[in-house]
Order: sequence, then structure tokens, then C-alpha cells
Amino acid sequence: MMAARLRFCLHVIILFLCCTVSSSEITCRNEAGEPVDWFIIYKLPRYKIEEVGSGVDYMYLDSSVGTWQKSQFMVNTSQGAIGNTLNPLYTGKVYKSNSSVYAFYNDAPPVLDYIQGYGHTKGVLLFDRSQGFWLSHSIPHFPSFPERGYLYPSSGKVNGQTALCVTYQYDQLLRIAKQLVYIYPRFYNCSVPTVFLADLPQLAQLCEGSKPQLTSDKSVEQLFSTQGEKFVSFVKSEHFVDDIYTGWVAQVLDADLLVETWQRQGHELPSNCSLPKHTMNIKRIRLPGSVLFWSHYDHSKWCVSRAYEDQVTCLGDLNREKAQLWRGGGLVCSFNPVIYKAFRQVVDWYIGC
Ligand SMILES: *[C@@H]1O[C@H](CO)[C@@H](O)[C@H](O)[C@H]1NC(C)=O
Ligand SMILES: *[C@@H]1O[C@H](CO)[C@@H](O)[C@H](O)[C@H]1NC(C)=O
Ligand SMILES: *[C@@H]1O[C@H](CO)[C@@H](O)[C@H](O)[C@H]1NC(C)=O
Ligand SMILES: *[C@@H]1O[C@H](CO)[C@@H](O)[C@H](O)[C@H]1NC(C)=O
Repeated sequence: MMAARLRFCLHVIILFLCCTVSSSEITCRNEAGEPVDWFIIYKLPRYKIEEVGSGVDYMYLDSSVGTWQKSQFMVNTSQGAIGNTLNPLYTGKVYKSNSSVYAFYNDAPPVLDYIQGYGHTKGVLLFDRSQGFWLSHSIPHFPSFPERGYLYPSSGKVNGQTALCVTYQYDQLLRIAKQLVYIYPRFYNCSVPTVFLADLPQLAQLCEGSKPQLTSDKSVEQLFSTQGEKFVSFVKSEHFVDDIYTGWVAQVLDADLLVETWQRQGHELPSNCSLPKHTMNIKRIRLPGSVLFWSHYDHSKWCVSRAYEDQVTCLGDLNREKAQLWRGGGLVCSFNPVIYKAFRQVVDWYIGC
């Protein structure tokens, strides 16, 4: 009798502990609000081939779902994976406390004017001393200021967009911060409380609006998620004047790449087979459910190896466009077979050379 009651109490305590931990820990969250190691979303363009969509529906991927899932939510509501993940930044507790570091960055921030000179990069960081997430995405004017609540810009509806969220232990933030210095992101809302200054001096500089010194023009760093999944971050500063895909990443990965980026007419770099490893422009995407669209309406930036053996996928910041040779930016690459398969199989047509 006594033992049974004790067991019951213990059960209640454990349940309580686990649920409070999982609802307050800083982590990427899936469509149901549960912690996940990583997720990717692919927001569909409004203009598809022979079809006009809402501009707010999206496909969702993480390791447990395995393949692209059509989301039941719209990206302009705070339901869904991005809203669930960013929620602590909008409820106020986290951004007003001094126990976490955060940064919203975007070369095209919401409301504010565009300022030249920053890296072409967009994302959100939120960490406490234990762990946090890095969400990198392609959506201009997003996310909204913390005090405004979760808002999705109407300008972000027209084109396709991607977002990658990865949950990392705190020690990985030190590496992420080091990488961000090369890109020189425009931090429009951020906080690096005093207790973090010793660990993250350069992040604090970026947050204050100053530009940390660099000793080289590019950098590669391995990052490991909380579940031990390897991601490789490639970053370049504005001083490395080249197409990041052709001039650098394809050669380092030793793989021919199929590249999906937003290329404005007259500014695009053609498929390029001059160097040992080639980069070829994707022109048309076919997502599951016969969602077919032209790259012209896709603002996302990603690439996959042409050959299945190389099994690499990268998501990032830069378009294959002449003007962006002179911009800071980066790519996060993964060798995960689920991610590779999801992206490789949607390549419907690319331009070889
Ligand atoms: C989201 O976007 C759709 C399509 O443009 C629109 O009908 C809907 O009202 C929007 N919802 C919110 C909460 O903004
Ligand atoms: C956070 O730190 C700032 C500056 O040191 C201080 O003014 C503020 O009261 C602190 N806030 C909390 C919630 O501790
Ligand atoms: C975010 O940045 C905007 C523009 O500078 C500013 O108006 C707003 O108060 C900032 N919010 C926070 C929480 O720092
Ligand atoms: C291919 O890319 C390399 C590296 O960016 C560049 O030096 C070369 O000029 C390009 N070749 C062509 C034909 O555009």
C-alpha cells in the first residue's frame, strides 16, 4: 500500500519534471510544439506552374517524419514549427531575462530601411547556458520585433522560401558566433547579457553594431546538434569575391552541385563547369503532391550533390548572382540521408553544361 503510494508520487514528480523541462527548454520545435533536433520547412511559392496558391502553405521535414509533409498550418500564423520555436521570444520572458542570449538578424529587417554593407543573411539565435537553436532562413523582413508578436510579412508570400532550425548545446554557440563574424549579419534585435560577454565578445560587438576584425576571408566549422548530427558551416566575408558554390564549396566538398537560388533575369550566373567540380542551376522544382514551380519564383537558397554517393545538402544565404560575389554569407551543409533524399528528389530540371 505504502509502496504503491510512493510509486504513484514518484510518477507524478517525474511527469512534472519532464514536462516543465520540455516546455521551457530552448529548442527547435516541431509542428506539435515538441522538441526536435532539427527541422526544415519549404514554403511554397504563390505562383506554381498552372496554379496560383495561397503563398502561405509549406512542407515540413524532420528526422521522425522522414519525407516532406504538407503542413496543416499557414506560415503566417504562430501555429506550426517556426511559430512554436520562436514563441519564447514573443512571450517576453526570454528576451527580457538576462539568462539568455538572442539575436534576430536580416539584411532586410522588418520596418527599418535597407543598409548596404552587411552580409546577405537571415536568421535567429536563442540560447541559454545549456542549449538553444539556430534558425537560418531566406525570408526578407522576418521575423517581427519581439514586442510585436509573431508576424509574417506579406512580401514573403509570393516566392518560395526555406528555413533550417537546428538545436545545439551552448558550446556550439561559440563556434556559430565565430562563423557569423565573417558574414557580418545585420542584428536588428539582440541581447548579449553581461554574464555571456567573456564567452561571446564578438557576438556582443555585432549586437552593439560594430564590426569585429577578421584575419581571413572565409572559414569552415563543424557543428554538432544536441543529438550528435553533424552540420558543416561554410562562411565567407565580402572580401572573398567569388561565387560561394562554384569557387569554394563544390571544390571543398569534392562534389558536383545542383543549385537552387533566386536568380534575377540579367544578373544570374550560368551553370559553370570550368573548375574540377561543377555547379549547375536548377530551373524547376517538383515537390510531392505535384507541386511544380519555376526557380524564378523560389527565393530559397540550397544545393544538393548531383551524385547520390556524395549525399550532401546545403541550405544558406547566397544566390548565384553576380552582385552577391561581393557579399558576406554562408551555407550549412548536412550529410543526413533523409535531408538529401528530400531535396535531391524534388529537382525536376537543371541546366547542365
Ligand atoms: C495568412 O495569409 C492568408 C493568405 O494570404 C490570409 O488569407 C490570412 O488571412 C492570413 N492570416 C493571418 C493571420 O495573417
Ligand atoms: C538585466 O541586466 C540589466 C543590465 O545589467 C539590468 O538593468 C536589468 O535589470 C537586468 N534584468 C533582469 C530581469 O535581471
Ligand atoms: C527591435 O528593434 C526595433 C527597431 O530598432 C526597436 O524599435 C524595438 O524596440 C526592438 N525591440 C527589442 C525588444 O529590442
Ligand atoms: C566559373 O566559376 C569560376 C569560379 O567562380 C570562375 O572563376 C569562372 O570564371 C567561371 N567560368 C565561367 C565560364 O563563367
